[in-house]
Amino acid sequence: MAKRWINDLTHTDITPERVFLNRRQIIAGIGAGAISGLAAPARAEGLEPNSFEEITSYCNYYEFGTGKEDPARNAHMLTTSPWTVKIDGLVERPGEYALAGIIDKMTVEERIYRFRCVEAWSMVVPWNGFELADLLSMAGVKSDAKYVAFETALRPDEMPGTRFPVLDWPYVEGLRLDEAMHPLTIMATGLYGKPLPNQNGAPLRLVVPWKYGFKSIKSVVRISLTDTQPPTSWNKANAREYGFYSNVNPDVDHPRWSQASERRIGGGLFSRKVPTQKFNGYDEVASLYDGMDLTANF
Ligand code: MTE
Repeated sequence: MAKRWINDLTHTDITPERVFLNRRQIIAGIGAGAISGLAAPARAEGLEPNSFEEITSYCNYYEFGTGKEDPARNAHMLTTSPWTVKIDGLVERPGEYALAGIIDKMTVEERIYRFRCVEAWSMVVPWNGFELADLLSMAGVKSDAKYVAFETALRPDEMPGTRFPVLDWPYVEGLRLDEAMHPLTIMATGLYGKPLPNQNGAPLRLVVPWKYGFKSIKSVVRISLTDTQPPTSWNKANAREYGFYSNVNPDVDHPRWSQASERRIGGGLFSRKVPTQKFNGYDEVASLYDGMDLTANF
């Protein structure tokens, strides 16, 4: 894969916690500006995106409640600027990175992706984001790293859902390193050319379009490179129903429902049911799993 990121980091890009506190005021509010300079859609494929209204009103974000409308109602409580992401573990340049500084260095593009939730509904979302590979290159992945672990912010004052033991907070997710480095895997900072709405995971969320939606962890504050498979929230909650890989697969049913088809959000009561495609239609990732039994590794 061609690397687009050029190492022009200076020591100021890796901000020690102490200095960061002084920089907070300076960088506040800059993040949203990075949406400019959008490239052409990388994967339009004639897909009709869902409306902004649909994407932002029907959400899963348990930190703000378990109902689909709860995130839209409650997520405004989250302070998203300034924001830092700790990148640590098996990297050359660990640190607490200011999001505004990260975005400045990344190529932010529009990517229109199919998005399929494990609950058998789906949407098409025009994300704005940058490739996770570029961010990992910025931090410098050490040769012994094999996995990437992600963590969502945990702020009970701002996230009313985390006052209840619905999940083992904070929400965590993980990818194998080759999945994380795949050019389809992005960190989203916006949708429809606007800053990411809080209910969709502002200011920074993962999007892995060939996996069930729960892998696409929201409001990421920490990314750790590891040599062992990291724990994931839904696997911890119910290992029988949710595995580590979570690749969209119509041939492997959820223990409680079929994954063979999906309901496209939109179109009201009679919204269309369509057959689910393996890897959500992103066939180019199939080779990542050559020789693996995807029924055992669900
Ligand atoms: N990330 C966090 N931190 N908390 C969550 O509850 N829900 C996941 C995923 N990321 C979730 C999360 C699930 S189940 C889905 S389907 C998608 O976010 C939903 O993304 P959307 O609301 O932007 O459509």
